[in-house]
Amino acid sequence: MVVIIVGAQWGDEGKGKVVDYLAARADMVIRTQGGNNAGHTVVTEYGEFKFQLIPSGILHPHVTCVIGNGVVVDPRVLIREIEQLRERGIEPSNLVISERAHMVMSYHPLFDRLEEGQRGDDRLGTTWRGIGPAYADKVRRIGFRVGDLQKEVFMRKKLGFVIGQVKNPILRDLYREEPIDCERMIEEYLGYARVLDPLIQDTYPLVQGALDRGANVLLEGAQATMLDLDFGTYPYVTSSNCTAGGACTGSGIPPTRVDRTIAVCKAYTTRVGYGPFPTELTDHVGDAIRERGREFGTVTGRPRRVGWFDGAVARYAVRVNGASSIALTKLDVLDEVPEVRICTGYEFRGRFHDHPMANISWLKHCEPRYETLPGWREPIGHCRAWEDLPANCRAYVERLEEVCGAPIGLIGVGPRRDQFVVRGGATLP
Ligand code: GDP
Ligand code: IMO
Ligand code: MG
Repeated sequence: MVVIIVGAQWGDEGKGKVVDYLAARADMVIRTQGGNNAGHTVVTEYGEFKFQLIPSGILHPHVTCVIGNGVVVDPRVLIREIEQLRERGIEPSNLVISERAHMVMSYHPLFDRLEEGQRGDDRLGTTWRGIGPAYADKVRRIGFRVGDLQKEVFMRKKLGFVIGQVKNPILRDLYREEPIDCERMIEEYLGYARVLDPLIQDTYPLVQGALDRGANVLLEGAQATMLDLDFGTYPYVTSSNCTAGGACTGSGIPPTRVDRTIAVCKAYTTRVGYGPFPTELTDHVGDAIRERGREFGTVTGRPRRVGWFDGAVARYAVRVNGASSIALTKLDVLDEVPEVRICTGYEFRGRFHDHPMANISWLKHCEPRYETLPGWREPIGHCRAWEDLPANCRAYVERLEEVCGAPIGLIGVGPRRDQFVVRGGATLP
């Protein structure tokens, strides 16, 4: 069975926790896009793990974890992540990197910063990890793939061209920055090549073999639908397709082989960085949710913007991704909120819109239409069965299902790996 896990909102929905939970019954987990702009958290009895490039199934030794072709890999960050796991007693011998995955080169974070600076007040609020510049070079066909690390002569020649003819002229003439020393960079990348060499593979036979055997494969998306390059709030998005289609192209698994898609959705909404956010709360209710939900960025530590559940966004995500079910996370964070609100759509210039409009200035200035439900005002962290949840809490979940148009199969009631209410066969066979 092949299952895609996608973010339904603006990221940090708890995809890592859902992947780790489902991975107990999986044979393979493939990260499909994004890079170390992602931060996926898994909390076990051994503490908290934050994965940036390594798939969130890595804590299960029986699972083959693949960094798919759609990911952009910063080798320095990946090596550090592997070392950090080793320091905690976990040997990632089940990790494989696609030789087709592109690399974040050391000049990409520099360009990310310089380009953000150039945008001034219109900056996007990127993570400064070089993700946009790396994907841009992939599309311009001047990118470097992980497999290139194994081709020293080719690396030298191509890096000489890219640095000498493309990057240094821009640094010098446009940004008045120091040029990059090509020879030093080659040495740096040859060092990475020596460390990563045993992990690099053509993942085509591996992935197709898993499909042939009928293995359970999880496709782990990073970022989320509203950060998708095409369907998100462009230009306030990331530079990859984070929706279900991107999971296929980013792994080499054909759409016809996908059995289920799970949209991961917080019980409220958050966003890091700039861009429209119709249900944003800027009052004490928002502050209380931020504190209780520990809504501070996994990667950059920035406080996340917080708002009510946006049903228009979640329904859009269900439809664009073809989600068969929703994993609803962080429901426990709302335990103390006296009244909970659900946005069902937006009013703009006298018209009702049931989905996020492509025109982001409309989305910025629209008026959300809300329904208000009573809170449950009791802790739910201990609940494991649907019946354990308070009646008002169940009513909130049932209303979310109606608004989103998909069943909610997993409900997160706390950060720990066991803190889920599971309904109607939401686990893998
Ligand atoms: P991801 O990027 O989608 O994997 O999500 P992040 O790991 O960036 O952010 C989710 C945060 O919420 C992490 O700190 C998780 O430990 C935490 N978390 C996940 N699910 C739950 C839940 O059901 N309840 C609570 N309280 N925290 C959760
Ligand atoms: P996970 O996988 C939340 C946001 C950044 C910024 C925008 C563009 O943990 O859910 P980028 O560096 O990608 O060019 O930044 O996208 N962003 C995320 N927000 N979670 C993420 O990943 C994100 N990855 C990127 O904050 O607004
Ligand atoms: Mg995250």
